[in-house]
Amino acid sequence: MTQTDDRTGDAPAPTGPLSKIDYSERIPNNVNLNDDRRLQRALEGWQPKFLDWWKTLGPALPTKDVYLRTAIAVGRDGWAHFDHVPMEEYRWGIFLAEQNPDRKVSFGKHLGKPAWQEVPGEHRADLMRLIVVQGDTEPASVEQQRVLGNTAPSIYDLRNLFQVNVEEGRHLWAMVYLLHAYFGREGREEAEQLLKRNSGDLDAPRILGAFNEETTDWLQFFMFTYFTDRDGKYQLGTLKESAFDPLARTCEFMLKEEAHHMFVGTTGVQRIVEKTAEIMNAHGGVDDIFEHGGIPLSVIQKYLNFQFSVSMDLFGSEQSTNAGNYYSSGLKGRWQETRRKDDHVLLEDVRMMNVVEDGAIVEREVPMLSALNLDLRDEYVADCANGVRRWNQALEDAGLEERLLLPHEGFNRRVGVYANHHVSPEGEVLDDETWAAKVDGWLPSAEDRQAVADLMVPEYEYGKFAGWIAPPNTGINDQPVEFDYVHLAEEGLA
Ligand SMILES: [Fe+2]
Ligand SMILES: [Fe+2]
Repeated sequence: MTQTDDRTGDAPAPTGPLSKIDYSERIPNNVNLNDDRRLQRALEGWQPKFLDWWKTLGPALPTKDVYLRTAIAVGRDGWAHFDHVPMEEYRWGIFLAEQNPDRKVSFGKHLGKPAWQEVPGEHRADLMRLIVVQGDTEPASVEQQRVLGNTAPSIYDLRNLFQVNVEEGRHLWAMVYLLHAYFGREGREEAEQLLKRNSGDLDAPRILGAFNEETTDWLQFFMFTYFTDRDGKYQLGTLKESAFDPLARTCEFMLKEEAHHMFVGTTGVQRIVEKTAEIMNAHGGVDDIFEHGGIPLSVIQKYLNFQFSVSMDLFGSEQSTNAGNYYSSGLKGRWQETRRKDDHVLLEDVRMMNVVEDGAIVEREVPMLSALNLDLRDEYVADCANGVRRWNQALEDAGLEERLLLPHEGFNRRVGVYANHHVSPEGEVLDDETWAAKVDGWLPSAEDRQAVADLMVPEYEYGKFAGWIAPPNTGINDQPVEFDYVHLAEEGLA
């Protein structure tokens, strides 16, 4: 059973192979947009609103142009093209991974049936909600990072920030396309709302908590791209398995772009840790290196604790009937669903999960289907640990004993089984008083944030880096580290 909207007609049937992106169009795309005039017009109507949003709430630092990558094909090879482009002329468009005409639903009660090219009526509301929630996070992070360019530690880092920003803008396009193409008038209204809600806005905030937090400085930006963009990666990973094929193909291509955001986070924190170790060694191993122009390891740990815990909340409650229903209905799969060695229906399966009982964390057996948010979160945590290992290797290489740690899953949580409990980073359940006495040692205090902010002075000379971060080993796209990745607007002005 499918449902179409009489105002937009049928959604365009994707035809393959679609690997080439048409840049002669006003909206670059590989979905044959000009075969569907109505959809094309609707999206062309949304385009100026997007550009207005970008100008008002996108990057604040004026630039002439930026060395950006643009997708030219969605296939495995050579999908990216690099060039200096004025940011507002970036070719945001609609790119879906190629269609596999034989694709089958790989889980849930429709297992083995052909993937859906249309939205089944009974799942219309749920699918739209999933797309709206995902879509809402994309422009939110651009808004959160709006003023970071003013304090960039280097032109190289500035370029990476802008690359992340334009791609999050494109991810918004990806979700808006689905809303316009498959959800009729309601979808178009939701697409409008995606530009009207804004990060931190008191009247119309973004949907999810972590996307209303301010990104105050570059340490937080790197922690955000490491921990919060990684949440995005895992959410996209579940939607990539969706029985609704256009959503699956959209997310598959978004994941390719997302890999760069992970890279920015992993290497950004790594370079800070390297510099911190260097400054510590130069000053007899002391922790408080603010006065020497570095970020203390203890403060890096607090930022890590904060960003990890707010990102954990994005996975929702450990037990969720919705998550189970989305799975059984085929809307949202598990991380790497097709590689899992089980029946992909999970009706009989159980697992263990932690709960807090009488002031202690104990395990309880629950039905697997009810705990799919936890399943995804566990995958995420294991992935997060990889970066921490890498950062600790940098500390070891520098001859230091100190290590960074991922806090306990229950630390500083607002959602799920730990929401009404205080748990230390080591996993000890604490009373209110003990928590209050210790929390400033675990989460960034206002003074910590101020001390970090004080270090954030821009370094715009090509090849130079602020004193609190090490240079990267290599540049972008085989260019040297000192390459002119960004031309600021001031240049060339008499
Ligand atoms: Fe994204
Ligand atoms: Fe991202």
